[in-house]
Amino acid sequence: MPIGGLGEFVDILEENGELKRVQAEVDPDLEIAEILRRVTYARGPAVLFENVLGHEISVLGNAFGSMRRLELGLEMKDFSEIGKRIAEMTKTNIPSGLLGKLKRIPELSKMASVFPKEPSDSGPVTEYVCAASSADCTTFDDLPILKSWPRDAGRFITFGMVATRHPKTGVRNLGVYRMQIIDGTHALVHWQKHKRGAEHGDISRDDGERIPAAIVIGAEPSTIFSAVAPVPEGMDKYLFSGITRREGIKTVRCKTIDLDVPANAEIVLEGYVDPANLQDEGPFGDHTGYYTPVEPYPVFTITGVMMRKNPIYLATVVGKPVLEDAYIGKVIERSFLPLIQMFHPEVVDFSMPPAGWFQGLAVVSIKKRYPGQAKKVMMGLWGMGQLSLTKTIIVVDGEIDVHDINDVIWAMTTRADAARDTVIIGGAPTDTLDPASPLVNFGSKMGIDATQKTPEEGYTREIQRPVGPDEGTSDLVDSRWDEYRI
Ligand SMILES: Cc1cc2nc3c(=O)[nH]c(=O)nc-3n(C[C@H](O)[C@H](O)[C@H](O)COP(=O)(O)O)c2cc1C
Repeated sequence: MPIGGLGEFVDILEENGELKRVQAEVDPDLEIAEILRRVTYARGPAVLFENVLGHEISVLGNAFGSMRRLELGLEMKDFSEIGKRIAEMTKTNIPSGLLGKLKRIPELSKMASVFPKEPSDSGPVTEYVCAASSADCTTFDDLPILKSWPRDAGRFITFGMVATRHPKTGVRNLGVYRMQIIDGTHALVHWQKHKRGAEHGDISRDDGERIPAAIVIGAEPSTIFSAVAPVPEGMDKYLFSGITRREGIKTVRCKTIDLDVPANAEIVLEGYVDPANLQDEGPFGDHTGYYTPVEPYPVFTITGVMMRKNPIYLATVVGKPVLEDAYIGKVIERSFLPLIQMFHPEVVDFSMPPAGWFQGLAVVSIKKRYPGQAKKVMMGLWGMGQLSLTKTIIVVDGEIDVHDINDVIWAMTTRADAARDTVIIGGAPTDTLDPASPLVNFGSKMGIDATQKTPEEGYTREIQRPVGPDEGTSDLVDSRWDEYRI
C-alpha cells in the first residue's frame, strides 16, 4: 500500500533514521525557522517539533530535505519513472470501439487505478469539522504558523497547498503558494501571475466571481509533490499524485464550499479568494536569498475547517540556496526529463542547478544533428510551461555532464563565442521572484549555445580534438596501477 498520509511518512522517516523529535519548547516566531535552516544547510534530518510555544499541534520541517527522504516519500529511486509513466499514458490510444476496448482492457484498468477516487463525505481529515461562523471554530491563530525571517511582514504558511478548480473546465489544481496571515480568518495568497491558481483567480475575477479555494496542509508525499510540480497543462494534480504513487488518492467533499480535497490531509482551511480584493503582500525572505518586495495579492477568507484530531503542521523554510526546496526541485528535474525528451528527442540530459533557484539557470545537453539545433531546443524550452520562466539556458553537447558545473564551464568557455553563440531575448516573461529583472514579471532571457560549432554553422576553422589518452597506454596504466603504490 502506498503511503497514506503525513503521519505514516513520519513513521517511515523515523524507522530509517531520517527524523529527530524535539521536545524542548520552541517558538514559532523566528526560532523554529532558524533551527530548520541550520539543520537543512548541514544536510541534517527531518525535525518534528513536539512542544511548540502556545500550540498543541506539532510542526514538521525539513521532511523532504534530502534525496533519500524524497525516495522514501515517493517510494521510488529513479524519479524519471514519473515522467515515463505520464509519457506512456499519453501514448495509450484509448479505443472507441468495443473490440478495441476488449483488446486494451489491461492498459485501461491500470490507468483507472491511478485516477482519484470519487469524493466521499468523510475521511481522516474530517475527524474535526467546523464552520467559521461558529464561535469556537479553528482559525489561523490556532495553528503554529511560522515567522521565518526578521523582516518578514508576519507569519506565513509556507507549505500549504492551495486547491482550486478551473472555473470553465473543472480541472482540479493544487499549488504550493505562500499565504501571509492577516488575521484569524484572512490571509493573502501569493499565487504568482504565471501559476495555475492565479489563472483560475483571473477567470473568476473576469466573471465577477469569488473563487472557492482551500488551503490543504499535509497529505500523501506524492500529493505534496504534485502541488509543487509543473505538471502538463490541463492535467488534474490529483491524478498526477495517483500516477506518482501508483494508486489514486481518496478525496472528500468540503463542507462549506463546492470543492473536493485530499482525504488524507492533516488540515483543510476552506474558503474563497476574492480576486478583486487585493492587498499588499510581503516582504518575505524567499528562495532567491532576498526579501521579495511588497506587491498586491488577493485575500483568502476562511469559511470552514476540517482537521485530523492530532494533526501535524507541515512547514518549510526558504532562503539563500541550498535549502529544502532545492531537493524537491531536483526531483522535478529528474521526473520531467522524459517529458522534455518526448517533445525534444535530441535532449540527452537536463539540469537546474539549485544555486540558480531553478528559474535562474538550466543546462541542457543534446545530440546535435543539424545546424542551429541548440537554438531550436532553447526556443522549445522557453515555450514549455514553467520552463518559460527560465532566465538562462546553456546548451551543451551530449558528452558534457550537465550536473558537473566544471564540465559545463569548460564547454561554455571552449565551444561558445560570445557574439556568435549568445542569444538575448528582450521583453519576455520572467519569474516573479527574479530580483534582477527591470520590471516584475518582465525582462530578458539569455541563451548560450555551448555546443561544438560545425562547418554547416559557418565554423571554418579546424575543429580541435579534445585531448585524451590512447587506449593502449590507458590499459597499461590500469593494469599496473597497484605497482605504482601511489
Ligand atoms: C516551498 C515552496 C514555496 C512556494 N511558494 C510559491 C509562492 O508563494 N507562489 C508561487 O506562485 N509559487 C510558489 N512555489 C512554486 C509553485 O508551487 C510551483 O510553481 C507549482 O508548480 C505551481 O503549480 P501550478 O502551476 O499548478 O499552479 C513554491 C514552491 C515551493 C516548493
